[in-house]
Amino acid sequence: MLEQLKKILSEAEVELSSVDSSESLETARIKYLGRKGLLPSLSGEMKKLTSEERPAAGKALNHTKKVLSELFEQAEKRCNTSEIGDSKFSIDVTLPGRIGNCGTKHPITGIIDESVEIFRRMGFIVADGPEIESVRNNFDALNTPADHPSRDPMDTFYFEDGRLLRTQTSPVQIRTMESNEPPIRIVAPGRCFRRDTPDATHSMNFHQIEGLYIDKDVSMADLKSVLLNYAHELFGPDVSIRLRPHFFPFTEPSVEYDFSCIMCGGKGCGVCKNSGWLEIAGAGIVDPEVLTNVGYDPEVWSGFAFGMGIERIAMIKYRINDIRLLYENDIRFLKQF
Ligand code: DAH
Repeated sequence: MLEQLKKILSEAEVELSSVDSSESLETARIKYLGRKGLLPSLSGEMKKLTSEERPAAGKALNHTKKVLSELFEQAEKRCNTSEIGDSKFSIDVTLPGRIGNCGTKHPITGIIDESVEIFRRMGFIVADGPEIESVRNNFDALNTPADHPSRDPMDTFYFEDGRLLRTQTSPVQIRTMESNEPPIRIVAPGRCFRRDTPDATHSMNFHQIEGLYIDKDVSMADLKSVLLNYAHELFGPDVSIRLRPHFFPFTEPSVEYDFSCIMCGGKGCGVCKNSGWLEIAGAGIVDPEVLTNVGYDPEVWSGFAFGMGIERIAMIKYRINDIRLLYENDIRFLKQF
């Protein structure tokens, strides 16, 4: 009897491993476990055994039943999955699910977020101001002469009530200083507007990040170290910066600052027009006149300010050769970021 049970088990193992449909599984079930199947008929033989043989045989019989039912279970599972796959109408549960389309950050938002994060680590906080501004905040308080060309309606969008679409983020300097006591350490990212004819490098609507640092004894060296650290954090430790004399009404002295070209490392290439430098933005030491305009004593307080174009940085970082690509919302373009 024990021999027979062993034989049934090894036969079933072989047979069930090759079963691949519910019909052949059912046939096997009838053969082994059916009313007249191999196992039930063998258990019918139990009564023919002596009482000494019976306990061992009973145990073996139970064991065989248990193993058999496990084998059937496995075979059944296998049949189910393969049949689901075969059937015309069923779902293949083994296929990976469809992943929905997921948006990515626009490169402008990406540069703003990254820049704000870098300045935050240097102790700056974010300040904000409206896109519709007064002439005073956008020009007068920033020490812009009455005949400065940027005030011309050919360059600036005015509303009938005399207000304007801010041409720069610099008016946030005025707002922040007028509503806070020094020391001040802010960056203000935002949208600006100018009556420019759109081309590969100009847009009527663009973004800047303004920076303002007011404290006692602030020098050009402080400005340079902040800008250098920003350059390193954004483009890596090999980037160097240079300051060139320039003019802005609200800073004295004023500079424009460049980063060494991130493509060629300063050797000169197509991107930097063989100069080795990329023009990034304007900056300078806050003009005492501006401090006076907001009620700060220029004998006590000093500071630096800077303002840079986000589009310019995005175009350099991602090698974008036409600013208009940033506004067209072409999904093939945006998907790359
Ligand atoms: N507002 C200037 C512009 O739009 C950029 C700028 C230059 C901002 C110097 C500053 C600064 O804060 O100090 O061209």
